[in-house]
Amino acid sequence: MKIFFTNLAGRQLVLLLLATVLLYTISARSAEPETAGARADALLARMTVAEKIGQLTLFTGYSGITGPVKEQSQRSLLEQVRKGDCGNVFNLISVAEIKKFQKVAVEETRLHIPLLFGYDVIHGYKTIFPICLGAAASWNPALIESSDRVAATEAAAAGLDWTFAPMVDIARDPRWGRICEGAGEDPFLGSAVAAARVRGFQGTNLAAPDTLLACVKHFAAYGAVQAGRDYNTVDLSERTLREIYLPPYRAAIDAGALSVMASFNELNGTPATVNRFLLQQVLRDEWGFQGFAVTDYTAINELVMHGTAADEGDAARQALAAGVDMDMQSAAYLNHLPERLAAGQITEAQINTAVKRILEIKFKLGLFDNPFRHLNEQREQQAFYAKENLATAYRLACESFVLLKNTNQTLPLKAGKKIAVIGPLADSRRDLLGSWIAKGKANSCKTVFEGIQRNNPGAKVTFTAGCDLDSTNRAGFAKAVAAAKRADLAVLVLGESCEMSGEAKCRTSLGLPGVQTELLLEIKQTGKPVVVVLMNGRPLALEEESQLADALLEIWFPGTEGGAAAADVLFGRHNPSGKLPATFPRTVGQVPIFYAAKNTGRPLDPANPKEKYKSSYLDCPNDPLYPFGFGLSYTTFTYSEVRLDRATLNPGEKIQATVTVTNTGNYAGAEVVQLYLRDLVGSVTRPVRELKGFQKIELRAGESREISFTIGENELKFLRADMTVGTEPGEFQVFIGPNSRDTHAAKFDLLEP
Ligand code: GLC
Repeated sequence: MKIFFTNLAGRQLVLLLLATVLLYTISARSAEPETAGARADALLARMTVAEKIGQLTLFTGYSGITGPVKEQSQRSLLEQVRKGDCGNVFNLISVAEIKKFQKVAVEETRLHIPLLFGYDVIHGYKTIFPICLGAAASWNPALIESSDRVAATEAAAAGLDWTFAPMVDIARDPRWGRICEGAGEDPFLGSAVAAARVRGFQGTNLAAPDTLLACVKHFAAYGAVQAGRDYNTVDLSERTLREIYLPPYRAAIDAGALSVMASFNELNGTPATVNRFLLQQVLRDEWGFQGFAVTDYTAINELVMHGTAADEGDAARQALAAGVDMDMQSAAYLNHLPERLAAGQITEAQINTAVKRILEIKFKLGLFDNPFRHLNEQREQQAFYAKENLATAYRLACESFVLLKNTNQTLPLKAGKKIAVIGPLADSRRDLLGSWIAKGKANSCKTVFEGIQRNNPGAKVTFTAGCDLDSTNRAGFAKAVAAAKRADLAVLVLGESCEMSGEAKCRTSLGLPGVQTELLLEIKQTGKPVVVVLMNGRPLALEEESQLADALLEIWFPGTEGGAAAADVLFGRHNPSGKLPATFPRTVGQVPIFYAAKNTGRPLDPANPKEKYKSSYLDCPNDPLYPFGFGLSYTTFTYSEVRLDRATLNPGEKIQATVTVTNTGNYAGAEVVQLYLRDLVGSVTRPVRELKGFQKIELRAGESREISFTIGENELKFLRADMTVGTEPGEFQVFIGPNSRDTHAAKFDLLEP
């Protein structure tokens, strides 16, 4: 629209109008709250170098030391905060403690910069949920998100701002103790869980009183340590790194995670703590990560042990240059950055970049607006163990259980039977919680034995341990055998102690420790039905046990409500629906073993296992004991053939794959319908199957439902030979079923562009 004023008055009116609009815009703009970035810049400009370096420093308190620590008293930590040498603290718990430190930071330091308080809230804070590997077995990202929402609410009520979670490391070697902390072997399931956990912790408003800053760890590929030994070397092709190990970290970043923890391990010769490919090229240049990166515990100093730094000063220089912003517990930045700056080996600009990232997050968390926002003693007490929190823990425990075997309908148990409960874990409270239990308390748990007693009132339920968890002492066998003989059936609760998985807890054997298997054999020889309940933090090699047990139920370390939940599932109050997030091998000799393997040039034909010159073993089949995605139910489900709505696909189009699933048993139950694809011919070799979708459905007895998956570019693209991501024309196979092995198949062609 053009308005032309020929007279002077008109032109003055237009100018007046424009000036008014301009003034309004400026005033409106100035009324907008300053962005966190702008506020960080303004503060940074006022800071001394020493104050800046203090913000790059993270020291541990003393409520639960999580790594090697030089003797450190509370007073010296408080002094370091007072001096401005420590801007962030972890492992300091309770509102009262945190308030004491925060007061010093905001009232006694020159610029009143609030502290950031972190803690390992991995699978719950006070209410403890199943270990993460167990939670992943629920294949229920929404429920996992709810569990971390609860964890964040409880931890924030205790004054915390930041959790060192989610741990999203893909793991395909059960010897590695930290497989318990993640979501298993698969990048698709792992990515869904990673994003759900970030949403759970961070909520929709980081400044809210019930949210935590998430910290994606351990970046990257920590689960690929050689020989399954913690902290060991990781050496991967960039292809394997990008296809298998990076996707869950990317999913967490895309879900909004604003801190990342670098891992202890080296990657292809360069420790992750100073790995510019990871910390700069992938994390910031490719993924656009906007938060800050923190090291793992004393990892900067460990560069000297790795052998890439001559001394801790050199290590500090390397870490800052590589893009690590915060130094957890090394004190390397505090002790050495000043001299490196003076020597011109680092720049103040590098320090400013790191400090700004941290300050920006503190502004986003609302710490400057209200440093005591999470510090309310009354709220602290009300938040713990709230009924709805325990209900979420119970539900996730039930959904995490995987029924691996159930012959002759041994399960569910019928009330009124005389039951001999046997095993070193049957009446354990502490083991129910697993590792990384934050402020969970074992005395808040009901044991599996107590749960069975409660579900079987009036009937005789006895308990005897039978043996230790990990000794050769067989003295308890006779009493256990006698108990089984007097009962109608035996329930054995066997497995690992909670101390046998987690950080620095690796095993070369995947069998049941001690003489538990011998105990099982003795009980089996009484001729009574035997139910085995497994509590463990990793896939185990249970070929003999799986043959001896009439029923086998995997309950992992199921958390605060896990004992009650296990007993309820045993008695059919809840129908198990869990599916394995990691393959269970027949023997440790098969490791690493995972479903998404390559075909090789000489694949073994399962129908002809003895054929020579094939990729096989002399002493063991190739297939696992229980495959990825496997899990039974008290009911049965049948799947129709796969129906595709087209046989060919042009690039950019989508195809529908549909099956009809029917509950053909007598119980209502949940089923996880899984979609796998195979790209038969590619510019590089492709896995024989890859999980590309799953839907968890509930079906009443007799009910059928059509389940459809949409397959398009997203599902078909991959890292091609030239390392670009995209599709390639050719034949694809579609597999749909209840696990990665027992599927119905169909195929279609993706046409040339
Ligand atoms: C530990 C772990 C890491 C944890 C950190 C702080 O060594 O590797 O997962 O978050 O230290 O406790």
